[in-house]
Amino acid sequence: MAFLADALSRVKPSATIAVSQKARELKAKGRDVIGLGAGEPDFDTPDNIKKAAIDAIDRGETKYTPVSGIPELREAIAKKFKRENNLDYTAAQTIVGTGGKQILFNAFMATLNPGDEVVIPAPYWVSYPEMVALCGGTPVFVPTKQENNFKLKAEDLDRAITPKTKWFVFNSPSNPSGAAYSHEELKALTDVLMKHPHVWVLTDDMYEHLTYGDFRFATPVEVEPGLYERTLTMNGVSKAYAMTGWRIGYAAGPLHLIKAMDMIQGQQTSGAASIAQWAAVEALNGPQDFIGRNKEIFQGRRDLVVSMLNQARGISCPTPEGAFYVYPSCAGLIGKTAPSGKVFETDEDFVSELLETEGVAVVHGSAFGLGPNFRISYATSEALLEEACRRIQRFCAACR
Ligand SMILES: Cc1ncc(COP(=O)(O)O)c(C=O)c1O
Repeated sequence: MAFLADALSRVKPSATIAVSQKARELKAKGRDVIGLGAGEPDFDTPDNIKKAAIDAIDRGETKYTPVSGIPELREAIAKKFKRENNLDYTAAQTIVGTGGKQILFNAFMATLNPGDEVVIPAPYWVSYPEMVALCGGTPVFVPTKQENNFKLKAEDLDRAITPKTKWFVFNSPSNPSGAAYSHEELKALTDVLMKHPHVWVLTDDMYEHLTYGDFRFATPVEVEPGLYERTLTMNGVSKAYAMTGWRIGYAAGPLHLIKAMDMIQGQQTSGAASIAQWAAVEALNGPQDFIGRNKEIFQGRRDLVVSMLNQARGISCPTPEGAFYVYPSCAGLIGKTAPSGKVFETDEDFVSELLETEGVAVVHGSAFGLGPNFRISYATSEALLEEACRRIQRFCAACR
């Protein structure tokens, strides 16, 4: 009898965590490494949010909470959806989890049966296919093209849907490409979804607040209210409020799905950490002005990185609308030879030579299902980004 579960053979470890680990190891050996692999803001959690957590501790809010979250947070979530997305949800239609990750996992766990397909546009956030596979479903990838700024075309979505499709996973702004869909671009996809009433929509709006210029965020049910009864709208405080370590994510959707997710969570982790939930109440209900300030900083970094990467030989980098990632192509370097003598056959070869030679840690695109590209997280200081891009330019110029 095997000790480990068969389910484990269906999943891979996270490539983004592996890159961060490799960068840490090189640093520990004394190497000068710039890590651009991590997917978290470098800003600190705002003081008013920290204070709300400290106050919660002082009040003794340190006990188990209801599985789906404290009523105050579920009310704040319902209000957020009305205020920011014009979506009508009652508090009972919301659920709070230990990070957005748990929300997604619970949704798949609560709904997937063997043979069920989940349509995932590529490039995708690394955890979607692994979660689907762990829960017994089958991920179905739909590649996008760099020339379309990594956005899914309606006809490609239509072709990917079969009678076995249970979910369509939508993520805008996207990790890893930063691509964000305008209202019109999203409408083209929701029109397709309206033709397939058996398909549910799982929209991951985690990067909602990180869009740049005059781009206006849109979420599927806002664009097509006809999808209300079969959409789970997921979001969280991790990215917008610089709260990755607090582990609070949330979603709203049809009551029967929320109840099923509550059932899973009740046998797994129960309610999320009480103190973090009170901090999240302040995040959603408190002042929002620092989000605008952070956005300006991110936009400046994005523009710097895109411009410097496009000056690197063999690299081409579209300008994404959101998140804090860029997803440049290194197609111009495939087949070329690194200073070490290694010939690049894949984007993974490129990023590992870049790390060894110049000490710049980025994540290969094949980890996100579309290459030859790589992902840079620009959630770090402008000075470090400038130095990293200079090193990338030098590295590319030295390849023959
Ligand atoms: C697209 C996307 N969804 C969900 C998550 C998970 O968020 P959380 O840290 O709240 O679990 C991440 C985190 O990297 C992400 O990039």
